Amino acid sequence: MAQGITILGIESSCDDTSAAVIRDGVLLSNVIASQSVHEEYGGVVPELASRAHQQNIVPVVATALRRAGIDKRELSAIAFTRGPGLLGSLLVGTSFAKGLSLGLRVPIVDVNHLHGHVLSHFVRREPTDRVPRFPYLCLLISGGNSQLILVKSAAEMEVLGRTIDDAAGEAFDKCAKIMGLPYPGGPQIDRLAAEGDATRFKFAKPHIAGLDYSFSGLKTSFLYTLRDAVKAEPDFVERNRADLAASLQKTIIDILLDKLAKAVDATGVTTVAIGGGVSANSGVRAAVAAFCEERGIEAFIPERTFTTDNAAMVAIAGYFKYLQGEFCPYSAAPYARVTV
Ligand code: KG4
Repeated sequence: MAQGITILGIESSCDDTSAAVIRDGVLLSNVIASQSVHEEYGGVVPELASRAHQQNIVPVVATALRRAGIDKRELSAIAFTRGPGLLGSLLVGTSFAKGLSLGLRVPIVDVNHLHGHVLSHFVRREPTDRVPRFPYLCLLISGGNSQLILVKSAAEMEVLGRTIDDAAGEAFDKCAKIMGLPYPGGPQIDRLAAEGDATRFKFAKPHIAGLDYSFSGLKTSFLYTLRDAVKAEPDFVERNRADLAASLQKTIIDILLDKLAKAVDATGVTTVAIGGGVSANSGVRAAVAAFCEERGIEAFIPERTFTTDNAAMVAIAGYFKYLQGEFCPYSAAPYARVTV
């Protein structure tokens, strides 16, 4: 029979269908099926995403259970991403979780996708792996969010700052598009930046009071710089790709780190974590690690598997709610938008 608390996590908020099993906070399996169907459209097509989730969800969950080496009757609860995300996609995971829960007679736990990113550092590979101590500061940077969050407990999170326009991921993606790179541009910029000179070009940085972010001015400055340069030299972008990528990445990192430092000063936290798709960026990871080392702060940089959408983070966020007895009614519908 099952030992401890075993949670199945299901994630279907965007274009990754994922299922994971954790037992007492330790990861037993994490299966992610990414959808290649969107590549030719330069972005995620919601209706195609929903259909792909429908095709993927049964085999993905079955594989997660098999890899975990457990029978579905050993599950204590099923955690699912309720939002934010694409409604049609969320509906697939939500409906599947409800159906399986009814069949197995185990409770369901709804998870805010953003809480999942913030709590992903509690997913342990081994029982002895270190995890953050509360309170800690989380820099959540993804395609849809750029937030500085004071994490007081697994349930209590205070947003100290957020973007007033584009998210950091959007800045990467939009500027990459201006350079003619395929979607999503973040990983492409990361790869090119490794070979470029980050001091070569200067782009505008925002002057926003407090801890909020802004990235739309940088995008405009990048666009105008390239537009003017291409007029004088048609193959400018082609000849300067690596330096443009490195300079752009450096600017985004400077903007992120400036507010992170201010938030650390304002809160006095001794632990900093990063999460979300942009936390996969090599430059961001190195800069945050260096900043924390310089300040004598403990840093939590996620494994790259846990930076993108994954069900392990949903399972761990669900585990915390399970411990509090916070279950979800079957009437719960997915939501497209919400903050932390
Ligand atoms: O968290 P996520 O998977 O999606 C949202 O739920 O928003 O993040 C996706 C974002 C995209 O903007 C993508 O370009 C960016 O994360 N990203 C990166 C890297 N890997 C993914 N940005 C910069 N460098 C990377 N290595």
